[in-house]
Amino acid sequence: MTIHTRMDDADRRNRLDDMAQGVLSTAMDRPDGPLKVSGRAPYAHEVQPEGMLHGVFVRAPRIGRVVSLDDAAARAMDGVETVVTDDRLLRNPAQGTANEAPVQGPREVFYVGQPIALVVARTFETARAAALSVGVEIADAERAPVAPQDYDSPDKKQSSQGDLDAAMRDAAVTVDRMYTTPAHSSAPMEPHAAIAEWDGDRLTLRGSLQMLKFNRNELADSLGIDPKNLRILSPYVGGGFGSKLGVAPEAVAAAIAAQETGRPVGVALSRQQVFEATMRRSETRQRVRLAADAEGRLTGIGHDAWVSNLPDESYSEPVTQATPFTYRGENRVIGHHVARVSRTCAGSVRAPGEAVGITVFEIAMDELAHAAGIDPVELRRRNIPDRDPTKDIPFSSNMLAQALDAGAAAFGWDDSRPAPGSRREGEWMIGQGMASAVRVNNLAEAKARVTLNPDGTALVETDMTDIGTGSYAILTQIAAEMLGLPPERVEVRLGDTDLPPGSGSGGSVGASSSGSAVFLACQGVRERLAEAMGVAETDLTLKDGQAIADNRSTPLGDVIDGPVEALGHIEPGKTSKAVRQATWGAYFAEVAVNSVTGETRVRRMHGTFAAGRILNAKTARSQCLGGMTFGIGMALTEELMHDARDGHVVNRDLAEYHIPVNADVPQITVELLMEERDPWTNPMQAKGIGELGICGAAAAIVNAIHQATGVRVRDLPATLDKVM
Ligand code: MOS
Repeated sequence: MTIHTRMDDADRRNRLDDMAQGVLSTAMDRPDGPLKVSGRAPYAHEVQPEGMLHGVFVRAPRIGRVVSLDDAAARAMDGVETVVTDDRLLRNPAQGTANEAPVQGPREVFYVGQPIALVVARTFETARAAALSVGVEIADAERAPVAPQDYDSPDKKQSSQGDLDAAMRDAAVTVDRMYTTPAHSSAPMEPHAAIAEWDGDRLTLRGSLQMLKFNRNELADSLGIDPKNLRILSPYVGGGFGSKLGVAPEAVAAAIAAQETGRPVGVALSRQQVFEATMRRSETRQRVRLAADAEGRLTGIGHDAWVSNLPDESYSEPVTQATPFTYRGENRVIGHHVARVSRTCAGSVRAPGEAVGITVFEIAMDELAHAAGIDPVELRRRNIPDRDPTKDIPFSSNMLAQALDAGAAAFGWDDSRPAPGSRREGEWMIGQGMASAVRVNNLAEAKARVTLNPDGTALVETDMTDIGTGSYAILTQIAAEMLGLPPERVEVRLGDTDLPPGSGSGGSVGASSSGSAVFLACQGVRERLAEAMGVAETDLTLKDGQAIADNRSTPLGDVIDGPVEALGHIEPGKTSKAVRQATWGAYFAEVAVNSVTGETRVRRMHGTFAAGRILNAKTARSQCLGGMTFGIGMALTEELMHDARDGHVVNRDLAEYHIPVNADVPQITVELLMEERDPWTNPMQAKGIGELGICGAAAAIVNAIHQATGVRVRDLPATLDKVM
């Protein structure tokens, strides 16, 4: 049996609350947690087949055209099996979820550090030494510049409504500023790795990937094989943050090398290779124009963004994604411009778009608050629109006002607006800042299979991944809730393309989309049970392994004599167009800036978030904590630097690319508005919360620095040289 739902109408059934097993939404521990902390959860490079060979990339020292590869010394080394120079290595698999893998010209090098060959040897150390011995000759070739120059290329889009210029002219208060954010690296804890093994024409690849059903098509396309002959296993993933949405060079290379050698081949990237040869978030330039009346009510908004990517890539950072609907203001110009550069491929890094777009916009809103003499929280309250002002459609729910109020109360927001730079403690200057959080909410197609056994155990199966986010826990809870079973009687199998295709993990859609598929599959199982008992499914209660109907309580084993299985299938439908769906929140931060050194310490930070039904209070909170920690990095230290001469990444490891460490992260508090339900989003009325915590977090800190010092940083990160 398959239960298939397209979200064409708001599904107002509230089955989960009716059942009230008390499993869903609780802060249940992750069932995979003990496996992870005891080293029993195998990551991609840890399940090494007998006789596995190791591959290490030879990478391009400069951009141009490969004229020759001298691998004689490498091949002569003891233990080297082969040097793979297959042209398919030079394809640049599309980042993102599209099934496309644009073929770049033969032997062309588009960015410094691009993999161009793979040395395969019996040990990793031999392969690495041999790879370093390969001589590479690269000739000049016509290439894009290494730094953004011509932003007004043909890749330019601008939409407008009303007359922004007039609104700016007539406004009582305006802001018109240019801001910049640097490139970022996802820097997942587990570097990208793959092990490939062929059996005839069938390939099994163990990888570290986020979106298996898409990855299967991408990799098959890159290799020129039928996706049916490819199985991908990715049961545990040590973080992705977008860098594993698409297949990266290691998967393609391992597969080709395993084919050539007839042996399993593993390719594990070093940290430097992750920085240089997977992907980055684009740097952005953003011009924000705000026009407001004397009370701070917006009459016009302009948001133009300039980003970059390689010449043939279709993706570009969707910086202005939430600008059309976050605030009121009838006159609008929104622009998007893409420069073509010879740098590492730009792709999705945690909350692509809003992470940098809302951050900059919320700095501009703080500037408006100061210019208008209005408390920044109050300024936002005054600008919450009743409907999506661009599309003129209703919000499925808009919790921004509640998040602002609850957040301000929880943080103890000082709305007395002291003069910037007026609060001191010894040599430390103290300031508070805040920002709104906004992230679009989407639903993705997903399938899952649920099997209920007569002994009161259940099995959930989908190729959904758990990238550290809590999928195992959440899907366990949904099945336990729906089937009336204790969570420890539910087993969840993920990360295998042989299982029904889930949504994958990306764009904050994973828990609610794959979760909806599990929900619907459970509904199918319930219908089969109801049928067996001769009652309507709506009259059936499942609790503690018992089926209850007509005042009779029957053990499951007496209702069914064999496993009962159902497939759940969720698809987005018309509701995604009929209403504006988004998640909301508010950040508050207090910083101390040292008046001698310019060093900024975040003293405390708070976030209040709303995302429909919260599926697991602990994993949701953890996502928000992680997002806000990213925000500290974005505000103060994170900056991927490129050499202006050849475009190479200068700070390509965690010693030089500074992410926040424990000492940089204060006690962060997170408040989840647990009561919210959004009936338009999916049958569970849940929304994605994974990325919400980074969408504007850095602005709260930058705004607090302004309050502390009077210095307005518009060029992130706010390093001490910019604050002094
Ligand atoms: Mo996210 S950047 O879609 O993993």
